[in-house]
Amino acid sequence: MTNFIKIENKINSYDKKIQVSGDKSISIRCVLLASQAIGKSKIYNLLESEDVSNSLKSIKKLGINYKKYKNYYEIEGLGINGFKKKKFIEINAGNSGTFARLVLGLLVNYPGVVKISGDKSLSKRDFSRITIPLSQFGTNIVNSNNSLPVKISGTEYLRPIAYIEKLGSAQCKSSIMFAALKTPGITRVKAKKSRNHTEILLKNLKVPIKISNRKNYDLFEIKGPVNFSGFEYVVPGDISSSAFFLVMTLLSKNSKLKIINVNINKSRTGIIKILNKMNASILLSNKRIYKGELIADIVVKNCNNLIAINCPKNLNSSAIDEFLVIFLVAAKAKGVSTFKDLGELNKKESPRLDIAINFLKKIGVKTIRKGNDLKIYGNPNLNLNKDYIVKNFRKDHRIFMMSCVAALTLGGKWTIHDKDSVKSSFPRFFEIIKQLGAKLN
Ligand code: S3P
Repeated sequence: MTNFIKIENKINSYDKKIQVSGDKSISIRCVLLASQAIGKSKIYNLLESEDVSNSLKSIKKLGINYKKYKNYYEIEGLGINGFKKKKFIEINAGNSGTFARLVLGLLVNYPGVVKISGDKSLSKRDFSRITIPLSQFGTNIVNSNNSLPVKISGTEYLRPIAYIEKLGSAQCKSSIMFAALKTPGITRVKAKKSRNHTEILLKNLKVPIKISNRKNYDLFEIKGPVNFSGFEYVVPGDISSSAFFLVMTLLSKNSKLKIINVNINKSRTGIIKILNKMNASILLSNKRIYKGELIADIVVKNCNNLIAINCPKNLNSSAIDEFLVIFLVAAKAKGVSTFKDLGELNKKESPRLDIAINFLKKIGVKTIRKGNDLKIYGNPNLNLNKDYIVKNFRKDHRIFMMSCVAALTLGGKWTIHDKDSVKSSFPRFFEIIKQLGAKLN
């Protein structure tokens, strides 16, 4: 079976309306929280991707049943101490850092041993950011080289912690909050700003959580242990999946696109702020709040006079998964764009900063990197006409999709490997780019 695609033509202009799949971060959080609730939860529009199916299979191994119905998943939680008690269980997180890191928080008082493993890419990622705070709860975690596989054996003598989270990692913050649900007493976290879906969901579930938002960080207090009931939730569309189409439309002559029902939580919309600063006019309409999450339709159109950005560091966290496509826009913008403090990009499914710099070099775009800061020398006339091969990117779904957007908007003849990578976050990617008129082989 070939696992590459060939793109030999730019996409023609289009004027369309689409809907992307459910948000990955919220989908995984819903699965995990439903596994801890008392009684049945119904999750509509759950993202159907490998990261989420690995989460579902893993909670099943831990004794939590779920069933798929026509338009929702039903998950039967057994409360915060409801995981099946066994001496040893092994679960496989596949490619999902979010699942692997968050589930560890739920295992801090597990009476047996749970071994968590993952695929090649996940096995290279840092888990010390999770094992350090969770060990302070009194739980026992063993791993080598600070990454997977991890073996966790919980304690019945959990003690609350006070922790300062400095990376701006929502996965770290959320894992601590999950552990706090099980821990008697008040757990306190001071966390650098990052996506806040976990705290919004916990508030909805009436978990006693105190939140105080400061300029550069947030403070949390959770009083455990806490039980909560099953819930219903409709997962909104994923802005990180939408990002590929926002940029494709921005760079495609005479094109226009509306993406409906997208989560536009302010901790996720860095891409819109950044692109608008670069002269795009991305509009939000039909804004509404659903269970604490802001949702809207996004309208974007082609822009022929993009300008460089001096990207404020405080937008990094809310655009963290979108920098790959933002770099493509910088490559087509007039002037030199600067981005600072992008070290976390190299901690993702692949070393994205290193790979993006090589990618830009391959398509003739000058960059200068100093440590974790990057300058991109844009060229509004960038138009490619050579052959390009993209491979060896640790099957990183976002590198794959960014490469497709480059191929469909900049020209050239492209062979892009590891097309199966889209399955981890966005299996409907091909269906949607074809719907917009892309020709793929
Ligand atoms: C995520 C948080 C971010 C993000 C990832 C999903 C989450 O990672 O890059 O794709 O769902 O909490 P970090 O927590 O490592 O910043």
